[in-house]
Amino acid sequence: MITLVTGAAGQLGRAIVRAAAPEGQVVALPRADLDVTVQADVQEAVAACRPEVVVNCAGWVDVDGHELDLDRSRRINVDAPRFLREACESVNAHLVHISTDYVFDGRASDPYPEDHPTAPLCVYGATKLEGEAAVGPAATVVRTTWTQASDGPNMVKRVLDGLAGPGSVALPSDRRSTPSFCDDVAQVVMMLAIDRYPGVVHAVNEGITTWADFAREVAVAAGYDPDRVVGTVEADYDPPRPAKRPLFSALDNAVLRQAGYPALRHHREFMEEILARVRTRDG
Ligand SMILES: NC(=O)c1ccc[n+]([C@@H]2O[C@H](COP(=O)([O-])OP(=O)(O)OC[C@H]3O[C@@H](n4cnc5c(N)ncnc54)[C@H](OP(=O)(O)O)[C@@H]3O)[C@@H](O)[C@H]2O)c1
Repeated sequence: MITLVTGAAGQLGRAIVRAAAPEGQVVALPRADLDVTVQADVQEAVAACRPEVVVNCAGWVDVDGHELDLDRSRRINVDAPRFLREACESVNAHLVHISTDYVFDGRASDPYPEDHPTAPLCVYGATKLEGEAAVGPAATVVRTTWTQASDGPNMVKRVLDGLAGPGSVALPSDRRSTPSFCDDVAQVVMMLAIDRYPGVVHAVNEGITTWADFAREVAVAAGYDPDRVVGTVEADYDPPRPAKRPLFSALDNAVLRQAGYPALRHHREFMEEILARVRTRDG
């Protein structure tokens, strides 16, 4: 199987490249090699390698930036998915597109299943939602949340770095979601890609938390005093941030469960895995 990965230098892109390798040839295209907002380049890249699968990991994750540059938001979140759909159709490739919890308004109290009505609060969420439609009904749209890399900056390392210093570590305590490990999400993406699974699929690790509580879990696991983690709330931002974010955006992997795919582990397990890697590196 030939898998083409766009945005291949990003945290999810790198994880997809690793997960796709056992399946055959991987054409990993970072932004420098393919700008997905240029239609002719997308068409040419897909025609050149004739992949069976294309995984679109290209994204602009500066949520506040989208409020300030609507044109750029639409190019990366709406136009690019459409260009990829058209290119995939021309070679009968299956497209997997990555989307987000920000398509929801955060007013729910239970994790969102795939068929819950969407109501984005910010431009990033609204254009990502348009992008979900732009890829068409045959594509797989994988929504995930609060993604954490195994091979780059992540919340575990950030908390450890903070706790290694003398002061406290301040993190949001008013937003709750399902922190997810890029490598775990990537495994699911590849299973769905091979099956050419059509439609929206939620793929998150188990466990609903806030970043402050996640940091306290890290502190306990690493032998630090969890009381050194201080919760912050959105109203503390001065000046206020441009984009409104959902207060609750945990996702329910309802489709994965119903379709019989393996469950994703609890975030505590991947947190401990990252911790072990950091300890090995330091030791
Ligand atoms: N981060 C999260 O918590 C989160 C949560 C839910 C969903 N997602 C979604 O997951 C996907 C991957 O995001 P990520 O977390 O892996 O972010 P990331 O680490 O920032 O990776 C995104 C990659 O896309 C590249 N890119 C930006 N514009 C591009 C363009 N025009 N053409 C080609 N590549 C381009 C970026 O390159 P540069 O760095 O050079 O700009 C970067 O390497 C995105 O669709 C995002 O919306 C992310």
